[in-house]
Amino acid sequence: MKKLVSALMCSAMVLGCFAGCSTATSGGTKVGVSMPTKDLQRWNQDGSNMQSQLEDAGYSVDLQYASNDPQTQLSQIENMISSGCKVLVIAAIDGSSLGEALDMAEDKDVPVIAYDRLLMDSDSVDYYATFDNYKVGTVQGQYIADTLDLENAAGPFNLEITAGDPGDNNASYFYQGAMDVLQQYIDSGKLVVVSGQTAFADVATASWATETAQSRAENILSSYYADGTNVDAWLCSNDSTALGVENALAANYTGKYPIITGQDCDVANVKNMIAGLQSMSVFKDTRTLASQVVKMVTQIVKGETVDVNDTKTYDNGAKVVPSYLCDPVFADVNNYEEILITSGYYTADQLK
Ligand code: BGC
Repeated sequence: MKKLVSALMCSAMVLGCFAGCSTATSGGTKVGVSMPTKDLQRWNQDGSNMQSQLEDAGYSVDLQYASNDPQTQLSQIENMISSGCKVLVIAAIDGSSLGEALDMAEDKDVPVIAYDRLLMDSDSVDYYATFDNYKVGTVQGQYIADTLDLENAAGPFNLEITAGDPGDNNASYFYQGAMDVLQQYIDSGKLVVVSGQTAFADVATASWATETAQSRAENILSSYYADGTNVDAWLCSNDSTALGVENALAANYTGKYPIITGQDCDVANVKNMIAGLQSMSVFKDTRTLASQVVKMVTQIVKGETVDVNDTKTYDNGAKVVPSYLCDPVFADVNNYEEILITSGYYTADQLK
């Protein structure tokens, strides 16, 4: 990587650029941006924010989406390297499946930034930029604890849990953050998971798919709640899975509507929050993450010290990856206008 940085600096100097001119910083350097899928709203936003912010800074961008297929992502990244990308930004579908491409990046001295999701089991990952994933989970768990007043209320309350994709390292952080708040109440019997499904492996949702979360929720509702038992809260790790649970409830449940958590502030889920069908979400402003990553790219290209704020948490199995954690923001029906509309993230019309 050191070799690459000096090569990049030379090419910027040869081009006669000067500090302060963004194209000078980038020297037209090509950056590969690999995103998991176009199916989920957030990755479209991440991709287009990354592209526009990198282009504004004078980089050329090779942006690819991999249709949630790890093999497609692997070959897209290999093509990025062969076609001259000098820095890679990768949001992995399956964090452990890109070893060959990462080895190739290492061989060609192409630095790699893991974007949002950690790249696992490889020492060819230079930096990681994400939101504080554990905190996302604690915000969700604490919301359930506060809303049910678990400290004081007698209970018991019924809880179900829907978590994310086991191939995504973030999923266990979200789950663990929430369970670290809620487990004590499960242990004391104040929270009862009627289905008995609490282990991560039992509550995980492959590919974070709405349909998969929906069919599991339908099974749970018909097996454990068809007799009129209320489900008081449903911990969902993100919005795509929350949507599945909300769809299942709409068709299969007549009891008292539960507290439902989410994450991402996807349009469909914000609409559901406004309609009273989802209690909260966690807003992760993809503009903030993109600008942090563009800053990292520029610091790498210029050979400067790269800003990180966490050098302990994210061990990928081969190394602890220096990370920058952005702050996730609690969102509900009371603050969504300010954080989503006033901030320009969505227009009011998009949420109608
Ligand atoms: C992201 C979440 C997203 C999920 C599904 C996770 O890695 O951090 O924001 O909801 O993937 O795409």
